[in-house]
Amino acid sequence: MVKTILSQLKEFKLIAITAPLWMVGEVICEMIIPILMGHMVDIGVSGGDMGYIVRTGLFMLFVAVLGLICGCMGGYSRSKAAAGLSRNLRKAMHDNIQTFSFSNIDKFSTSGLVTRLTTDVTNIQNSFMMILSMAVRAPMSMIVAMAMSFYLSPRIATVYLIAVIFLMLVIGLFMKSTMVYFKQVFEKYDKLNESVQENVSAIRVVKAYVREEHEDNKFEKAATAIYSMFVKAEKRVAIAGPLMMFTVYSCILLISWMGAHMIVAGSLSTGTLMSLLTYCMNILMSLMMVSMVFVMITMSEASARRVSEVINEKSDLTDPDVPVYEVKDGSIVFDHVDFAYDRNADEPVLKDINLSINSGESIGIIGATGSAKSSLVSLISRLYDVTKGAVKVGGLDVRDYNMEALRNQVAVVLQKNELFSGSIYDNLRWGNPEATDEDCRWAAKLACADEFVEKMPQGYNTYIEQGGSNVSGGQKQRLCIARALLKKPKVLILDDSTSAVDTATDAIIRNAFIRELPSMTRLIIAQRISSVMECDRIIVMDNGKVADFGSHEELLGRCSIYSEVYESQTGANADADFDEPA
Ligand SMILES: Nc1ncnc2c1ncn2[C@@H]1O[C@H](COP(=O)(O)OP(=O)(O)OP(=O)(O)O)[C@@H](O)[C@H]1O
Ligand SMILES: [Mg+2]
Repeated sequence: MVKTILSQLKEFKLIAITAPLWMVGEVICEMIIPILMGHMVDIGVSGGDMGYIVRTGLFMLFVAVLGLICGCMGGYSRSKAAAGLSRNLRKAMHDNIQTFSFSNIDKFSTSGLVTRLTTDVTNIQNSFMMILSMAVRAPMSMIVAMAMSFYLSPRIATVYLIAVIFLMLVIGLFMKSTMVYFKQVFEKYDKLNESVQENVSAIRVVKAYVREEHEDNKFEKAATAIYSMFVKAEKRVAIAGPLMMFTVYSCILLISWMGAHMIVAGSLSTGTLMSLLTYCMNILMSLMMVSMVFVMITMSEASARRVSEVINEKSDLTDPDVPVYEVKDGSIVFDHVDFAYDRNADEPVLKDINLSINSGESIGIIGATGSAKSSLVSLISRLYDVTKGAVKVGGLDVRDYNMEALRNQVAVVLQKNELFSGSIYDNLRWGNPEATDEDCRWAAKLACADEFVEKMPQGYNTYIEQGGSNVSGGQKQRLCIARALLKKPKVLILDDSTSAVDTATDAIIRNAFIRELPSMTRLIIAQRISSVMECDRIIVMDNGKVADFGSHEELLGRCSIYSEVYESQTGANADADFDEPA
């Protein structure tokens, strides 16, 4: 885990190493000043030597400025290293997420990925900065100050040592109980983000169903859970603070008392006592810093684990060693295919599918909700891998192709489709970045998107809002079809892609395909039999199995599920569908 995180330092490695070195310089300067001050009091002030006071004062100023420079440089290098680390971590995660298969994405929730990319990385950045500044500086400052104190007065230094040991014990005990809460806090962030994400991205649905209050409550619950965890943790931190200060001041008091006695007895000079008091503050403050570093490390440990999980996640779909880049034709074969989303599931979603589709054929797919129509077609462009058997496109197993090449030849208009913020041209060019304006207009015309786009004030340059919120459902579907057509694929899969398009336009789109792209294999999933009845052949899906496969006429004659739905959709009771056969 630590290795994964640190390996992302890359170009910031050098600057990360220099940060503690600058800190060492700062500590040395800080440690020299108390000695100089002691001398100034003992020799200069007591002896009335003004020249010595000025000389020592100037030297002190020089050391202080040097310390300041070291401090500034240290601050700059650690900020730069930490910010750089955070950028690299985000980039590494984002890059890896792009390689994720659909099932990798199913594993991490979207909100989980967002937390990891934002909050978790910020956490790591903060604690890395803290570690760079304190992890070397504090222990070193403590050790040097302790050594100097022993050198100046072993008796008084023993008091420090006892105080330090006592404080360490106290801090250790507090930390142990505090860490437990801090660890839990970050797990709760996922819940919070989940609530925010779901609510905000689906705010229209929330409003339509007047669920604001319910969503509010859900959010409040998540926010309160984080609040109470933080309060529990901070309560302990709050008690620890005053207790430490109490020890620090008791210590100073004790030293002053002992020191006063020793000065009276002549075994200690006033200057040395002043130096000792400064070292005392140094030691105890460093101890506090060390404890803070520990808190930061624990707080970021969970984050580091969550971030490295994303960086190290391997896509479960990989290209073969010698991939094929050319899909020969649009023929599709399912050979004894079983498929389950969860490999450990008892019951597969698709069971023993055997199909053979010729290149250029038009195929309708019809079946009840949940009968696995979408699952069936997702295997063709290898959005998921089969659990058993093989899916072949153009005569070759889909696992033998380069994934990008395969997906460019097998275009899918997904059931749950998205447009992205940008102009209509930008959105269409997702299908083919090299497409000319003319190509885009050709595809839009085939998908019957041209009429409404041309009516828009800025035509094809109209800006589409995030998620396509400023176009209607049917318009969005038509733009998505146009986007897929720009790939000029060998196989086109439309998953319920004309559900929001009226029946007449639906027919025009289908006829345009036959006219303009006759050699393209078409798979059309639909709920309306009218959308598929003209297809060469129709697959009837029933509960993860192929119930029948044949032309409209053949199915009417022999497939009871099909004929019942056909009658219900065309007869007097024309609103039935596959979920409620007449
Ligand atoms: N990403 C997924 N993870 C786990 N299970 C899933 C996933 N997607 C679908 N399923 C399950 O697989 C089964 C088949 O779903 P599928 O989406 O293929 O049905 P469908 O025929 O396309 O339905 P619809 O007509 O409603 O689109 C369902 O029981 C569903 O719960
Ligand atoms: Mg579906």
